[in-house]
Amino acid sequence: MINSLFGKDLTTVDSLTSADLELIWTKSGEMQEIVNRKKSDNRLQGKITAMLFFEPSTRTFSSFLTAVQRLGGGSLPFNGMKNTSVEKGESFEHTIRVFSVYADCLIIRHPEIGYPARAAALTDNPVINAGDGAGEHPSQAVFDTYTILKRFPEKKELTVTLAGDLKYGRTVHSLSKLLLKCGRKITFNLVSPLMLSMPSQITEALERNSSVRRTDQLKEAVNGSDVIYMTRVQKERFNDPDEYEKLKSFYRLNKSLLTGANKEVIIMHPLPIAAGEISPEMDNDPRSLYLNEQLKNGLSVRMALLDLILNP
Ligand code: NCD
Repeated sequence: MINSLFGKDLTTVDSLTSADLELIWTKSGEMQEIVNRKKSDNRLQGKITAMLFFEPSTRTFSSFLTAVQRLGGGSLPFNGMKNTSVEKGESFEHTIRVFSVYADCLIIRHPEIGYPARAAALTDNPVINAGDGAGEHPSQAVFDTYTILKRFPEKKELTVTLAGDLKYGRTVHSLSKLLLKCGRKITFNLVSPLMLSMPSQITEALERNSSVRRTDQLKEAVNGSDVIYMTRVQKERFNDPDEYEKLKSFYRLNKSLLTGANKEVIIMHPLPIAAGEISPEMDNDPRSLYLNEQLKNGLSVRMALLDLILNP
């Protein structure tokens, strides 16, 4: 199979084709053995990845770093730009140009929308967007989609509930768009308080290619859903702290809310759970994937992406 991802940027899910996704699923399957048995490989030997995180991260940073290291690659890991020349006032442009000389690939997280794409225009190295403000989070969407498809390999029609902060939550922006490319018929339940609604540009794209239902009541969306994807209200994007306080605990998914849900329903969350949007009683529930399957798939998919992008 031709590797269409070699040397490419991943700054938005818009650039991914169904054929790219097939390639990623196959490669992720290969990586699963390494993830499950905590093995390693050397296919990234001699490749250096710069991880430039201008905004805090736990999982994305650590899972990309784990992925690079399990495949034998080197890394320049910056989780936050403290102690770097950025503190001295170095421009984003210069930081990118400097690391392009040192590394083979740049993984960038930034609080502003569009910065990874801006970086991609400044360097010939592939750039992976690890989250840009309230924009996108494409690698997260790829493994979230992988998680959903693996759980429902045969189902041609899926009902997916996306709940919480759909306005600022970049994971759901990327995930909803990517799900349209999987050859399934999707019904989206967009569940949010009105003030945290999905941006209209995305809703319009979803409405053109799927069925969309909107509500602010999680309970209404639970019954009939195959997937319930909860998100954190994105505190750091609010100008008014009082507004955040009012909205942060709008939803609380717990066992009682799930009475009447499909037997096979899966509960996902990109983590961190910050304001009780999923009750701790769900953590060990077999329907919850956010502390196990979703994380493991995150590793195998990121390993697959790095291998495909960095090796012909
Ligand atoms: C998400 C993010 O950073 O967008 N976290 C992550 O990457 N796993 C979700 C969030 O912070 O709410």
